[in-house]
Amino acid sequence: MLYNKITEEILEQFRNIAGIENVLIEHDLLEKYAHDETEDLHYYPEAVVKPANSEQVSLLLKLCNEHFIPVTPRGGGTGLSGAALPVHGGLLISMEKFNKIIDIDERNLQATVEPGVITEVFMNAVADKNLLYPVDPSSKGTCFIGGNIAHGSGGPRVVKYGTIREYVLNLEVVLPTGEIIWTGANTLKYASGYNLTQLMIGSEGTLGIITKIVVKLISRPLHNILLLGSFPTNEDACKAVSAIFRAGVTPSALEFMERRGVEWVIEFDHLQFDLKDGVEAFLIIEVDGTNMDTLFAEAEIINQVLEENGCTDVLFADSSAQKEELWKIRRTMAVSVKSNSVYKEEDTVVPRAELPALMHGIKQIGKSYGFQSVCYGHAGDGNLHINIIKGSMSDEDWNTKLKSGIQEIFELTVKLGGTLSGEHGIGLVQREFMSLKYSEIHLNLMRGIKEVFDPKGILNPGKITPDVN
Ligand code: LAC
Ligand code: ZN
Repeated sequence: MLYNKITEEILEQFRNIAGIENVLIEHDLLEKYAHDETEDLHYYPEAVVKPANSEQVSLLLKLCNEHFIPVTPRGGGTGLSGAALPVHGGLLISMEKFNKIIDIDERNLQATVEPGVITEVFMNAVADKNLLYPVDPSSKGTCFIGGNIAHGSGGPRVVKYGTIREYVLNLEVVLPTGEIIWTGANTLKYASGYNLTQLMIGSEGTLGIITKIVVKLISRPLHNILLLGSFPTNEDACKAVSAIFRAGVTPSALEFMERRGVEWVIEFDHLQFDLKDGVEAFLIIEVDGTNMDTLFAEAEIINQVLEENGCTDVLFADSSAQKEELWKIRRTMAVSVKSNSVYKEEDTVVPRAELPALMHGIKQIGKSYGFQSVCYGHAGDGNLHINIIKGSMSDEDWNTKLKSGIQEIFELTVKLGGTLSGEHGIGLVQREFMSLKYSEIHLNLMRGIKEVFDPKGILNPGKITPDVN
């Protein structure tokens, strides 16, 4: 679609709405907003505006809708599917000034926050009141809670506590046409018609811009036990995952890491970590709760299951420093891989017991197309982050053959009952694969929803649904 460019008159109106100091147009200043964490992609907006309240967002959207200018909302810029990339130029709305925690309601165990609050800042504020907000993606130190909602984010604790979908109760949203709505109610139950809150979660800024958030909080577990299991093969580790749940334990984290990923983190972070010969994969397993005896009993069951499934060594982290080190290895994996090689990242998710088959298939597909991969992720959710490494692959193969390899990985994922993304979203880079999973009827329903919210198609065009804009 051919959108209009931002003219000098429109820029002047942006300045009137948000203040002259909150409108950026210089190339150097735009650089930061031209990329997120997706591969090495860059798309420059024509202008960046940093509004400070819902009314300003509304005025900006009304103006852009009227003049047919594309608008891309942006949170912390940590996305891995390119959803915050302004692929058609236009206006980029940065939500960085929406950084207030408005209220932590200890009576109802709810909080109201703005979308530009950094996830970890919010988690800490809640923890100060002995409460827990458990949605902690690896990027928690820089990502925004609004971006987490826009992507339906997860993280290691989803396996026990659920994704962000379980925690969002109500959202204030500015529609592409400028109206401001609340999507639901501040209640724990909602059976009052179509659930617009859930529709907004994971919509990647294509249906509206989130300006206020009400989330549910829970009480904080007092204790945890952390284990690291070592395995001779990836598949052994993957097999142990579903066996743990079948033995009656639900861990608060169950993460998979391939040896190569751990090696890269050690190198990247200069860690002292003893990697034993013959170990190809690890599971990080955490149980948490209020009663230490129960946790010891659960850890013992896990220990037994691991031994029965080929685990050669179980390390019980015996200090908070050791726990932190293990978590650091897992959480630094994404940046370590990124710093090591040109790569492409997939975020496949399958029913948990199909993980060994997915793992096996990925390596087979890699062999037939000549690419290496480093896998890690939220094994307890059946969610694997597959990092396809360019390594010594020729530019030509990387640019031409690789796509068929990725397509085969997605076909396998779908055959196993899974889908394209568990938590990183579709954004720009996965949209071309949507039809591998979803029929035209399904995609048309998605296109129809988009049209109802955004009849002119100005808000975050080029994302999620193929062939729209
Ligand atoms: C992680 C991010 C990449 O799990 O989702 O580390
Ligand atoms: Zn993840």
